Amino acid sequence: MSRKKTGYICQSCGSIASKWAGQCGDCGEWNSMTEELLEAKAIKHNISENVKFEDLAHQDYDYSRAITDISELDRVLGGGLVRGSAILIGGDPGIGKSTLLIQLASKLAGQGKKIAYISGEESTHQIRLRAHRLGIDQYDIKLLSETRLEDVLALINKEKNIDVVIIDSIQTIASDAFNSAPGTVTQVRACANELINYAKGNDQVMILVGHVTKDGQIAGPKVLEHMVDTVLYFEGDKGNQYRILRAVKNRFGGINEIGVFEMQGKGLIEVMNPSELFISPLERNATGACVFAGIEGTRPILVEIQGLVAKSFIPTPRRSAIGWDSNRLSMMVAVLQVRYGLNISDKEIYLNIAGGLKISDPAADLGVICSLLSATKRQAILKKTVIFGEVGLSGEVRRVSYSEIRLKEAAKLGFENAIIPAGSEINDSKLNIIEISHIKQLEDIFTKSPALENCV
Ligand code: TYD
Ligand code: MG
Repeated sequence: MSRKKTGYICQSCGSIASKWAGQCGDCGEWNSMTEELLEAKAIKHNISENVKFEDLAHQDYDYSRAITDISELDRVLGGGLVRGSAILIGGDPGIGKSTLLIQLASKLAGQGKKIAYISGEESTHQIRLRAHRLGIDQYDIKLLSETRLEDVLALINKEKNIDVVIIDSIQTIASDAFNSAPGTVTQVRACANELINYAKGNDQVMILVGHVTKDGQIAGPKVLEHMVDTVLYFEGDKGNQYRILRAVKNRFGGINEIGVFEMQGKGLIEVMNPSELFISPLERNATGACVFAGIEGTRPILVEIQGLVAKSFIPTPRRSAIGWDSNRLSMMVAVLQVRYGLNISDKEIYLNIAGGLKISDPAADLGVICSLLSATKRQAILKKTVIFGEVGLSGEVRRVSYSEIRLKEAAKLGFENAIIPAGSEINDSKLNIIEISHIKQLEDIFTKSPALENCV
């Protein structure tokens, strides 16, 4: 009897090695090599009968989207669920993925759609309890607690006309065809592939929940992200009630559009106008805090950036950023040091984006610079001021997009001043505009700001 051939597959990048190694030679990930059966067959060049090319010009443009009635979700999806599409939702455990999906299921069921909710993590009793607590247990949703792929597919097939299938989570589903444990690359890849193909062939929407690893990637190979049409991440600080749903890939809409939810006792509630959620009252005279006028997707959001500069008692002072890229923080500290002449290299530096929001808009640079300056000088920034602008390595302040929208939102929320890049395209603004082209010009602004020498 011939022994079945096995190999070591990296659970992060999917590369195959014949021997075990502590680190993957391809992607450099540690402890990611797992032994799996290699069941490759030689590819034969025979063509199936029904394979043929189609003309682009004769494609049907009707996506037939199903509006979910959860407008924050519709916004992220680019206008609702598209028939025959596959969606992957990732997020930390306990962030609210299952809650969002059962709420989505109830909304769709309320519209008369047929929904199958398949959980490999919770029993049907647990799902019922949750639905009861959320007050949505009266809806007709088909529940199944199962982890065997074959059973799942057979049942979906038997239950005719299902519109939306929800799989919570793809890492718990496994097929008999493979000896690997559930959650391994082989299983995740093969099961996701089967499920997505089935859904596409039957014009159903397939929603897969994906677990996220420690470093924020969806567990399993990157191919999972390539297989689906849309990848959404559900993020937020568990200590905080706000949750952000973000599209990182979308074949049927724009990306980086966010949906904001609030986790309450009765589940996730949509936050329609989130622009003022992440700032504290305008009258505060705190050092190190400033308000950044940001854009998420197409929507303005004002965010409070908080900086703290403290004496260090260790040779390599700590630098930490929450909600912002820590490499970018190091860069801004270096720019401040060289281009402004502020020596904080021996200090501990902390940066926090209030409210658990993660921002990647480069326009936040100037806000970070202002908040670090304010923290170091122990001076509050002008009251009722919003800030935005990208900062380059030579200390120059660059123009950013959507200036007008940012300023309009700030004016609407009662702000009076704005520190913005020189030459920004603005027609007329109710705000007192302070244009700067280099961070050195911030010195003038700080001489006018109140000093809070005795502040803590
Ligand atoms: P859950 O949807 O189970 O998270 P995930 O599927 O992403 O792991 O969310 C669980 C958390 O949400 C849990 O900590 C409790 C909290 N929660 C509420 O605060 N209110 C609610 O109505 C529900 C259902 C959950
Ligand atoms: Mg869950």
